[in-house]
Amino acid sequence: MDILIGLQWGDEGKGKFIDLIGRDYDIIARFNGGANAGHSIYYQDEKITLKLLPSGIFSPHIKNIIGTGVVIDPLSLKTEIEEIAQIIPEQDLLNRILISQKAHLVLPTHRYWDIYMEESALYRTIGTTKNGIAPSYSDKIKRQNLRVEDIYSDNFKDDVYQILNRQYNELQHLGQEMPALEELYHSFMQGCIFLKKIQITDTEIFLNKALRNGQKVLAEGAQATLLDIDHGSYPYVTSSNTLASAACVSLGVSPKLVDKIYGVTKAYCTRVGHGIFPTEITGQTANDLREKGGEFGSNTKRPRRIGWLDLPALKYAIMLNGVTHLVLTKADILNTITEIPVCTHYETKGEKIALALPACKDQEIKPVWKYLSGWNTVLTNVSQAKNLPEALATFITFLEAELEVPIKYLSTGPQREELINLAI
Ligand code: IMP
Repeated sequence: MDILIGLQWGDEGKGKFIDLIGRDYDIIARFNGGANAGHSIYYQDEKITLKLLPSGIFSPHIKNIIGTGVVIDPLSLKTEIEEIAQIIPEQDLLNRILISQKAHLVLPTHRYWDIYMEESALYRTIGTTKNGIAPSYSDKIKRQNLRVEDIYSDNFKDDVYQILNRQYNELQHLGQEMPALEELYHSFMQGCIFLKKIQITDTEIFLNKALRNGQKVLAEGAQATLLDIDHGSYPYVTSSNTLASAACVSLGVSPKLVDKIYGVTKAYCTRVGHGIFPTEITGQTANDLREKGGEFGSNTKRPRRIGWLDLPALKYAIMLNGVTHLVLTKADILNTITEIPVCTHYETKGEKIALALPACKDQEIKPVWKYLSGWNTVLTNVSQAKNLPEALATFITFLEAELEVPIKYLSTGPQREELINLAI
């Protein structure tokens, strides 16, 4: 099994890369998060943003698995599938999706809890996507949640009503505005009826058998390393483990079966939501990069915060994941920057730090910069490593020496074909 993860704070361009290399796989399996993801891929020149579905959904030969570690909002999945079914026939689509029976459900009240906690002065504001991710995962950990397999239980309707009713009353007591309880209940049940059209199974057995039979599996991470609940910049993180190792737990595949680990990083940094961001920049350059790079949330449309490449954090992410293959995206967004700043170290209290993610928001962090020459040219016609502008080739060599991992692919634009295999 190979694994693909983001190395920064998300939005590194994982979707586009999977769209390309994904075709070599028989199975693509999502292992974390929920409808908070936004993986953009192109199908017949149309940009499509996938939230819960794995990125192999448009390739007829690929089975798409939603693993145990994912939280599923049935209504959101229904909407996503119905939208895609307008492009490819629904039956074909449904036959190629498998959902883990042990994946957890996101209830409508989870969404309202998320909204309440984000907006109430009583709670910490994280800047979440308000998709109910944290409340669903916390009910999972509290062992109070419903799982996908529960939809087949005789008591399911009663159990849903009871949990919704309790959470609804709690939220109402706190003054949270919501549609009527009956409305939430009925639309959720519609989503659950739809779920029954999809194969719900023990995906860990399916995957292990497939691997034993020589099939190729790609585990697709959502969000990214620095948003990991344990190793990210807590509390400004998501509520799942986003690291490569989480793929094994979620999918029920032994670490012994992992081969390549692809880590995707942009040539600069972005972040949505709150939290420490040592290399953040503001002002005109940030605005220009945001516009040029289309740095607005795929789902939420929120403007992303912008910063320069952060090597201490990137080295840390590479270490945590054991990355074997690096993918560098959005180099083209830096086309007009004459001198590209890259943070090689942090300085804090007179100490130089070369490998870390500064976690403490009060920590005084001063980035130490190295300025690399820009390439000042468009990359539209560059399709081979040997034709890269010299300054870009130097930029890549510099990064490889610092990061001690080869950069195997370079993305030079949004289109599928704008990706260079540097090994050729
Ligand atoms: P949540 O995952 O919706 O709870 O949001 C928690 C944090 O993760 C927020 O800062 C979000 O902006 C961020 N986040 C969640 N999903 C993504 C993603 O797919 N890309 C980038 N950031 C994300």
